Amino acid sequence: MSTPGTQPLGLPATAVEPYLQDLGPDDADITSHDAYTNGVPHATFQRLRAEDPVHWTEEQDGSGFWSILGYQDALNVSRDVATFTSSQGIRLEEMDAEQTEARRTLMEFDPPDHTRLRRLVNRGFTRRTVDTFEDAIRALTSDVIDTAVQNEEFDFVHEIAQELPMRMLGKLLGTSDEDGHRLVAWGDALLGNTDPEFTDYPIDLTDTEAFRMVPFRSPAAIEIFQYAQEQAADRRSCPRDDIITKLLEPTLDGSPLTDLEFNNFFTVLVAAGNDTTRYTLTHGLWTMLNNPTLWDTWKANPELTPTAIEEVLRTSSVTMHFRRTATKDVEFGGKQIRKGDKVVMWFNSANHDAAGFDHPFRFDLAREKNDHMTFGRNGPHLCLGAWLARMEIRLVFEELMKRVTRFELAGEPEFLRSNFISGIKHLPVKVVA
Ligand code: HEM
Repeated sequence: MSTPGTQPLGLPATAVEPYLQDLGPDDADITSHDAYTNGVPHATFQRLRAEDPVHWTEEQDGSGFWSILGYQDALNVSRDVATFTSSQGIRLEEMDAEQTEARRTLMEFDPPDHTRLRRLVNRGFTRRTVDTFEDAIRALTSDVIDTAVQNEEFDFVHEIAQELPMRMLGKLLGTSDEDGHRLVAWGDALLGNTDPEFTDYPIDLTDTEAFRMVPFRSPAAIEIFQYAQEQAADRRSCPRDDIITKLLEPTLDGSPLTDLEFNNFFTVLVAAGNDTTRYTLTHGLWTMLNNPTLWDTWKANPELTPTAIEEVLRTSSVTMHFRRTATKDVEFGGKQIRKGDKVVMWFNSANHDAAGFDHPFRFDLAREKNDHMTFGRNGPHLCLGAWLARMEIRLVFEELMKRVTRFELAGEPEFLRSNFISGIKHLPVKVVA
C-alpha cells in the first residue's frame, strides 16, 4: 500500500485520531435543535454514555424519554420488537392516536403488518437490483461532478451532494429528472422541518397545528401527496418496471395499499432517500478536508473503498436517533422502564461507543470490525436503501478522486438545525485540480 505523509507512532497509515478536532460542549441539551447547529455535541453523548447510559430526559411539554446511548443496549432495543414497538412513533415528537394513524408508514408498523408493506418494495432495493443501475448512476455522477469542478470554488452540498441522491432514487422510483428539483425541495422541507432555511414552518418555532395530520407536520407533505397521486394515476394507466408501479400491486394479503398508505409510503421514500445520503457524502468529504492524509491515502489505495465507505457511514451517523415505545414494564440497563415510555436509540452515540468500536474517534479507512448502526441493525426496519446509499457514496468518491487532486476548505460549514438529522447544509470547497 502507498502511504502518503508520516503517522504518529502506533497509528495505522490508514487512520487519523481524533478525526474531529472539536467534540462540542459536554453539557448540551440533546433535545434542543439548536444544540446541533455547530455539529453533534459528541462530548455530551460521551459523558452520558459513561455516567448514565440509559438516561431519562424530561421534555418541556411535560413528557420525557429514555436515551439509549451504548452500542449493545441500542442493538438490544432494535432487535426486541415485541418489547420496543415502532407502532407509536419513531421520532421524539409526541403524537395522539389519531395523528399516529393518519401518518403511519412502514416505519411505524411492527411485523407481521410491517412485512406486508415491506415485501412490496424489498426486491427493488436489493444489492443485486441496485447493481443493475450502476452504469446509469455513474454516468449521472460523472456529469454532475464534471459540471461542478469547472468552478474553482463552489458549495459541495449545493453542486454535488444535493444534486445526486434524489436523481439516483428517481431512477428506481421511475420519476423524471425534471421533477428531481421539486422532490429535493420537498425532501428538504420534510427532514429539515426544524430549520428555517428549508421550511417556512419550523415545527418548534411556528404554529404547525394545521399540518398535524401529515408526515413530518410539514406542508410539503400535502404537495407530495398530490404528486404521488399523479404518479399513481400515470402507472395505473401505463405500468412500468419501477418502484411506483410495485407500490400499486396487491400486498401479501391480496389487497392493494389505500391511497393514504400509498401517499405515506411515497413520502417516506422521498424523505429517507434524499437528505440522508447527501449529508453522509458531505460529512465524509468534510472529514477528508480536516484530515487530508485520509483523502490522499484513499485515493492512492482504491482497494480501501469498501471499508472506507463503512467508516464514512459510521462516523457520519446522519439519522442520529430512532424511537421506540415500551409495550410493557421492563427492567433495562438497571432502569425501570414503564409501559408507554418513549425509548430513543441514539445511533450517533452507539457508533462512538468504545465497547463497540476500537478507538471510536479514530477514523480508519481500513477498519475491519465495523458493525455500525447507521442503517439501524438486526431488526425488521434495517434501512431499505442501504445498498443504494452505499453505491451512491462509492460512485461519488470514485468519480471525485478521478478528477480532483484534493479539495480545500473555502469557508465554514453550516450545520442543520435538527436533533434528528446530523446534516451539513453548506460546505464551501476549493478544487486543487
Ligand atoms: C446514508 C444514508 C441513509 C441512512 C443513514 C439511513 C438510515 C436509516 C435508518 C437508521 C433506518 C432505520 C429506522 C428504524 O430503525 O426505525 C432506515 C430505514 C429506512 N430507510 Fe434509510 N437511510 C439512508 C438511506 C436511505 C435511502 C437511499 C433510502 C431509499 C429509499 C432509504 C429508505 C429507508 C426506508 C424506506 C426505511 C424504513 C424501513 C422499514 O421501516 O422497514 N434510506 N434508514
